[in-house]
Amino acid sequence: MYKIVSIPGDGIGPEVVAGALAVMNRLAEKHGFTIAIEEHPFGGASYDLHGEMLTEATLEACRNCDAVLLGAVGGPKWESLPHEHKPEAALLKIRRELGLFANLRPAKVYDALIDASSLKADVVGGTDFVVFRELTGGIYFGQPRGYDENKGWNTMVYERYEVERIARIAFEAAQKRGGRVTSIDKANVLEVSQLWRNVVHEVHRDFPEIELSDMYVDNAAMQIVRNPKQFDVIVTGNLFGDILSDIAGMITGSLGMLPSASIGKSHALYEPIHGSAPDIAGQNKANPIATIASVAMMFEHSFCMPDIANEIYQAIETTLAEGLRTADIANAGQSAVSTTEMTAAIVKNLGQ
Ligand code: NAD
Ligand code: IPM
Ligand code: MN
Repeated sequence: MYKIVSIPGDGIGPEVVAGALAVMNRLAEKHGFTIAIEEHPFGGASYDLHGEMLTEATLEACRNCDAVLLGAVGGPKWESLPHEHKPEAALLKIRRELGLFANLRPAKVYDALIDASSLKADVVGGTDFVVFRELTGGIYFGQPRGYDENKGWNTMVYERYEVERIARIAFEAAQKRGGRVTSIDKANVLEVSQLWRNVVHEVHRDFPEIELSDMYVDNAAMQIVRNPKQFDVIVTGNLFGDILSDIAGMITGSLGMLPSASIGKSHALYEPIHGSAPDIAGQNKANPIATIASVAMMFEHSFCMPDIANEIYQAIETTLAEGLRTADIANAGQSAVSTTEMTAAIVKNLGQ
């Protein structure tokens, strides 16, 4: 039996998480395993209920389960709260408390969606890379931080061990993939990036068969758009990884397509890379595929069931090949289906 904690959060979070749970339940039924899903409030939804974005009860539940499934947090309603009380701060707290230092964000283009990207088909077709984003350090967590009337400040800091552990798992992933790692930094300007680069090269000594290259982050943003197929494994810090993975999202057609796995020594959390999309929340319009594919990553990484993960990817592929499109991936003239219709089609394509 697998114990899963679901924290749908805000905006489209509950809509896309409902899709992912439907897929999970279908798979449990089909293969005869049991999953116990426990839902807990998180983010703005929790604040409205309990006056806290992340209660001790939600955090404790996340500590005591096999995997966490998260929708998204945030929205205009809670935007004006002080920084440390914003929903986004609760997301950072959960990542830090669970020790989720590695955020895997795979960008793979489905053949059926090659025309959905804003880039040319021959540029995006065949793209298949993964971003290893460091998730519990860097400028997101560095001290001092703050602002007053005249000044705002944050600190970008990395410790050797933080770089070592993310570099190591990126090299290990490359061993099972195309054997190439690109480390992305800003070492021409930032001292913290020089440390990053030095440590990545030291760790590389243990992986002599892997081809390592360095790239500055500004060039990398351009290269992902120019020729995304050049990348296999990207390893980078928290802020750069955040930005580059949204760019990667558009290669695959939409931000609504990109799943992620946040992994640590003893916990794992799965979430789409997109946010709560307040502009379409509550309208049954959101693309549930990023969250459904995050469940595939859960089966792969937390439950060591790559066959089940492949069934999910296959059902997504078939559904897209049948021509179903939510609004974000529909081209002009193509009619769009709702979140629930897309979900139902994927569940159906999982078979009996
Ligand atoms: P966003 O990712 O929520 O939305 C950006 C654009 O992409 C919007 O136009 C949205 O409609 C579209 N989009 C995103 N996901 C989609 C989906 N599944 N289907 C169809 N369209 C989709 O980013 P934003 O607007 O900058 O942020 C909104 C809120 O979400 C903010 O409060 C932000 O802090 C928060 N946020 C949370 C997370 C998270 O919980 N992990 C991630 C990013 C942003
Ligand atoms: C993401 C989001 C978060 C981040 C925010 C909401 C804290 O953009 O998961 O990509 O920057 O990590
Ligand atoms: Mn982001």
